[in-house]
Amino acid sequence: MKLDRLLQAQGFGSRRQCRQLVELGEVRVRGDVVDDPDAAIDTAGLTYEVAGEAWIYREKTYLALFKPAGFECSHEPKHHRSVYSLLPHPLVVRNVQSVGRLDVDTTGLLLFSDDGAFIHTLSSPKKHVPKIYRAELAEPAADTLVPRLLAGVDLIDEPRPVAALDACLRGPTTLEMRLDLGKYHVVKRMIAAAGNHVQTLHRSGFGGLSLGEGPLAGLAEGQFIYLDADALRQLRAV
Ligand code: URA
Repeated sequence: MKLDRLLQAQGFGSRRQCRQLVELGEVRVRGDVVDDPDAAIDTAGLTYEVAGEAWIYREKTYLALFKPAGFECSHEPKHHRSVYSLLPHPLVVRNVQSVGRLDVDTTGLLLFSDDGAFIHTLSSPKKHVPKIYRAELAEPAADTLVPRLLAGVDLIDEPRPVAALDACLRGPTTLEMRLDLGKYHVVKRMIAAAGNHVQTLHRSGFGGLSLGEGPLAGLAEGQFIYLDADALRQLRAV
């Protein structure tokens, strides 16, 4: 692939801007400065640098972010910062999108990609990809809370009762639940329908990936990592 096209596809700006970067000597390919924007580059296992920053060529990109509270899952946030401000600018330019959304006050695992088929598959209700949430409740849980969530609760706009795949109490006011639906405010609405109220919400798992474990061990709040082929296999292994 020609170097200018390659840089454009990786999110470094318009073709003209990418040609300029190369002509200014800002681009190194496999360690050496290449100043010809039309140079043909083998993308297999490619590492390169732009303005001193190292990058790996990725045809499609897959990311996991530990979302902090106070960030909106929108490119045009209304009242808070955008989760996209936590990602490097070239990834935003290449149009990575979040796989579903978390509320502004929800923390936890949020995936991103620029692979439309991947996003569609993981967010499709038909695929039943489970997610794990931990909710801190406003009131100590009544004995009826878990049974009601497991049996299914009625939500406005949902034609059928919505049930958790699993739900268990981790303390008097701490509830963990597994769910394969990705509807707006679904956890908060389910818990409200079951007679309690969410104070804080955290998503600890998505598919076969969990924060603090395996490929996501050590991922701190506000940080992201690239998901490699092994991590993507683990994500799907549920
Ligand atoms: N359910 C909610 O209520 N909020 C989220 O952020 C995610 C799931």
